[in-house]
Amino acid sequence: MAERTERVLVTGALGQIGSELVQSLRARYGGDHVVASDMRTDASPEICEGGPCEKLDVTDGKMLAEICDRYKVDTIYHLAAILSGVGEQKPDLAFDVNMNGLKNVLDVARERKMHRVMVPSSIAVFGPTTPRDNTPQETLLRPTSMYGVTKVAGELLCDYYWQKYGLDVRGVRYPGLISYKTQPGGGTTDYAVAIYYDAIQHGKYTCFVSEDTVLPMMYMPDALRALIELAEAPGEKLRYRNAYNLAALSFSAGELAASIKKRMPEFEVVYEPDFHQAIADSWPKSIDDSDARADWNWSPEYDLDRMTDDMLAELRKQLQRVGVED
Ligand code: NAD
Ligand code: SER
Repeated sequence: MAERTERVLVTGALGQIGSELVQSLRARYGGDHVVASDMRTDASPEICEGGPCEKLDVTDGKMLAEICDRYKVDTIYHLAAILSGVGEQKPDLAFDVNMNGLKNVLDVARERKMHRVMVPSSIAVFGPTTPRDNTPQETLLRPTSMYGVTKVAGELLCDYYWQKYGLDVRGVRYPGLISYKTQPGGGTTDYAVAIYYDAIQHGKYTCFVSEDTVLPMMYMPDALRALIELAEAPGEKLRYRNAYNLAALSFSAGELAASIKKRMPEFEVVYEPDFHQAIADSWPKSIDDSDARADWNWSPEYDLDRMTDDMLAELRKQLQRVGVED
């Protein structure tokens, strides 16, 4: 039985995760109980018609407070952020949104004694000095991207609000997420999504990391379930607040291409690494998520083959619906 919350606010709700998380939360808690917000205004009818929708820039603390009061929000899923690729090109924007936006969310939640705040972190907290294989929960966090810097500082800020004010903040360190409903927003792991689109639409793909680049990844249904399961887990069992290591899949860009080629033998990939390569090379290849498994029973369901089957089938349906499949 799902825990009932009075009102949930999702920030960054039109992004890769938010556009699907809003639907999952509305199915669980009721459409009227979940407010979708984003600074963008191009919400799909699916999001707009399923419950309240608001334009909200999280760097504007007053606007955030006003929306929380108007809807009597007691839980925030804070997804508004600038990801690693865009963050390297616009470091000031990444710092502003990822740090000041998070601080506004934590302050608004603390002042209103909210029930809970969920804040995803990322494998970007790790850096070149972190062990890259089976990266432990507790290890060196010395990232070299601006995105990573804000994610480490964000984890520490969340921990501070939990320790100092008792605000129930929880989070996971997501690996790269793969999904078909909404395209990713400018991260280093975006190639693992774009490859499926280009396989179906063009039969070939130019990959911006090298063939032997291995990164941890996860399919969106597992990612959504992880966040909701952590939100509903008994607090006394949680040894970490922000944030738990999470693992599901680890594969090279070449292995990903091969899993598509198995199903589409004509598919071709060329590798032309760009600035994303340095970011990818600073991140782990695989993650030790034994603490998440022990504390709140985390377990992923999708392997590479099952994900590829699902991605290709769902993307084909979606691209046919909008009439853009070659
Ligand atoms: P995304 O880029 O797809 O979506 C982010 C959303 O935030 C966008 O819709 C954007 O319009 C919005 N946004 C940007 N600035 C804003 C602002 N100032 N105010 C309000 N909204 C703003 O990102 P996502 O993939 O959905 O990521 C959500 C969270 O999960 C982020 O914290 C991200 O770091 C984390 N995460 C994502 C991944 C992944 O692979 N997608 C992996 C690890 C962690
Ligand atoms: N997918 C994200 C990125 O590449 C990881 O946090 O930025």
